[in-house]
Amino acid sequence: MKKILVTGANGQLGRSLQALASQYPTWEFLFANRETLDISNQEAVNQYFAAHQPDACINCAAYTAVDKAESDEEAAFEQNFIAVLHLSEASLQHNTQLIHISTDYVFDGAGNRPYTEDNDTNPQTIYGSSKLKGEAAAIDVNDKAIVVRTSWVYTKEGVNFVNKIKQLMQDKPSLNVVFDQTGTPTYAPDLAAALLVILSKVFETPGTNFGGVYHYSNEGVTTWFDFAVAIRELTGSSCEIKPVTSEQFPAPAVRPAYSVLNKEKIKTTFGLSIPYWRNSLEACMKA
Ligand SMILES: NC(=O)c1ccc[n+]([C@@H]2O[C@H](COP(=O)([O-])OP(=O)(O)OC[C@H]3O[C@@H](n4cnc5c(N)ncnc54)[C@H](OP(=O)(O)O)[C@@H]3O)[C@@H](O)[C@H]2O)c1
Repeated sequence: MKKILVTGANGQLGRSLQALASQYPTWEFLFANRETLDISNQEAVNQYFAAHQPDACINCAAYTAVDKAESDEEAAFEQNFIAVLHLSEASLQHNTQLIHISTDYVFDGAGNRPYTEDNDTNPQTIYGSSKLKGEAAAIDVNDKAIVVRTSWVYTKEGVNFVNKIKQLMQDKPSLNVVFDQTGTPTYAPDLAAALLVILSKVFETPGTNFGGVYHYSNEGVTTWFDFAVAIRELTGSSCEIKPVTSEQFPAPAVRPAYSVLNKEKIKTTFGLSIPYWRNSLEACMKA
């Protein structure tokens, strides 16, 4: 029986993996939240790996407060870089397949074609820089590590754009939402399902090294404004949504103007078919 450790198990992605675990009855899942396993504690990580000997570790733990990170650099780097180093060293030592999650914010957003894994990175924020260091920590230490970059993650529960817009539409007659940032949402249950397909393939082909960077989001392209309009349509709200520019809506961390991810590599390598973002939004609303 394969043993799968999921760190950061109480976050959006971690909970989505919890919901899918019963679909893999031959695997034993170890869901560890910050209380069970603080990944920034090297000794705790080493002890956990030694005690449980997981066959795979999906790291869903991260410092994800993008704006807060701008004034909290040390904590962001500790969780998103140093902690990943602990996991990659332990995974190398125990022959554990590490899957680590990263972000579209490693790009500067100056592009206008979907980013491939080979495109140059140039993070513009503390969060993006700390996640880029985390990617290197995973792959440079353990060349079998799989890093999956994703974007605009949401679930039914959790702190995310969908729930913020739903709440604001109830509280206010009109909202300003930026229309000059283009990307693709990712429904966390879709990403969770994809990660488990990836793991299945890894286990089925033990001689193959799948290590490297991959991109995953839902299919299609949108802006935060259009995403908000889609949420309004699906909730039936009458709240007015006004398009504004990023300059009219300043935030401590500058978001990439364009961060669409090209998903060809992950689809062809693992035979994935990815749902269209709007269909997944509908699924989320119905969930
Ligand atoms: N959310 C997005 O829009 C987005 C976009 C692109 C990429 N990503 C990446 O996708 C991954 C999953 O994101 P998510 O949205 O599921 O994040 P999330 O909901 O913020 O969950 C992150 C979880 O990690 C936990 N955590 C933080 N530091 C930890 C530590 N030292 N030890 C153990 N647990 C720790 C947090 O616990 P506490 O609540 O106790 O802090 C939280 O439960 C992350 O790598 C993130 O960078 C997210």
